[in-house]
Amino acid sequence: YGTQTINKDGHLTIGGTDSVDLVKEYGTPLYVYDIQLFRDRAKAFQKTFEEAGIGYQVAYASKAFSTIAIYQVAAEEGLSLDVVSAGELYTAIKAGFPKRKIHFHGNNKGPEELRMAFEEGIGCIVVDNFHEIKAIKELSEKLQQPMNILLRVTPGIEAHTHDYITTGQEDSKFGFDLLNGQADQAFQEVYQHEFLNLLGLHCHIGSQIFDTAAFRLAAEKLVGKMGQWKTEFAYTCPVLNLGGGFGIRYTEDDEPLEPSVYVKEMIETVKETTEAMDFPVPEIWIEPGRSLIGDAGTTLYTIGSTKEVPGIRKYAAVDGGMSDNIRPALYGAKYSSILANRAGEAAEEAYTIAGKCCESGDKLIDHAALPKIESGDILGVFCTGAYGYSMASNYNRIARPAVVFAENGEHQLVVRRENLDDLIKQDMSYKQQVKR
Ligand code: LLP
Repeated sequence: YGTQTINKDGHLTIGGTDSVDLVKEYGTPLYVYDIQLFRDRAKAFQKTFEEAGIGYQVAYASKAFSTIAIYQVAAEEGLSLDVVSAGELYTAIKAGFPKRKIHFHGNNKGPEELRMAFEEGIGCIVVDNFHEIKAIKELSEKLQQPMNILLRVTPGIEAHTHDYITTGQEDSKFGFDLLNGQADQAFQEVYQHEFLNLLGLHCHIGSQIFDTAAFRLAAEKLVGKMGQWKTEFAYTCPVLNLGGGFGIRYTEDDEPLEPSVYVKEMIETVKETTEAMDFPVPEIWIEPGRSLIGDAGTTLYTIGSTKEVPGIRKYAAVDGGMSDNIRPALYGAKYSSILANRAGEAAEEAYTIAGKCCESGDKLIDHAALPKIESGDILGVFCTGAYGYSMASNYNRIARPAVVFAENGEHQLVVRRENLDDLIKQDMSYKQQVKR
């Protein structure tokens, strides 16, 4: 993956740094990000738009991995930012991210979150539902402040991915239904409002999608709606946001296309369909999370105990697990791995990599093909950059790992490892009940 190689000591290197040295310095479990890879991915998306000569924004869907440092790199790369909570917005502002390039998402943004969006003067709010239209209208009138908005619609497309992460199908908690009149009603409610500036339409059809047809179909449906509004209301929609969801390779079984291929096909479809309708090509915005940051991340663990169930399987347990990567337990997600300290050695055995949480389901990988493991070996699990750290928990009061960025042979700590005191920081002592 990316700039990962094996050095003369047989160690896995990430971003030109030796993983064994990283472990010595920072301990395990450790999330290590190959930052050059994130930069390359960002540039590839941007280049695709530039070559097509089309207006665009590439917004990093930061739910995939949200920290001050990655927001700063994203800003350096000229990315926009998709945030979904006061917490992500606050982190972005603390990182000094350009506020006008922040897009605010979510199906139930709270009153304080919306107020914060106005007060900080962010770039746009992606409006999800009628309740929110009302709240934004009231707020903008009260503050006498304009706000750019996009309407998020559900185009009724089922992309083939895990049930929990599909979002574009008709029966979804997100967005205005495109087919049953909800989107039209939403349009009517916002397009002539004094303070709301309707930039356009948004959809996100799901995550970890390999199939370009789903994106083409979504683009067609949204352009169709834009055409309708042009005819009926003489409204020319300037922006079409087609979300994220481009799949990446976790294991050999995954066969994604280059991320930019999805975008190329989207652009083609938008060009074709708008031309056919004699409609100006809108700016196309996308918001990839996983395909920008997923394969940039590797988690390093130390192997501790091992166990053999004779004739059935060999377990090797790591010093983390579902607390730093919930995806195998939650989605049945598959990962590939390597012994980072003996990366050049051939695989001899198949291990089930178990986590240390008190749940039988806390297994990171089934049948990881590895050399014969010894306790103390370092396991690298690839492609943990998206929805790993960002979905980590303190289950079993396990401290969250540190995060390190590696780039050009240098490394830096960007999230400190939690310590035991961090774990009890919010706790308060029980006060004896007052006797009456
Ligand atoms: N835009 C919107 C509106 C989204 O809801 C999402 C992801 C994205 C963009 C970015 O999608 P991506 O390019 O990362 O696929 N926790 C799950 C993934 C949930 C995705 C939720 N929305 C997982 O670990 O697979």
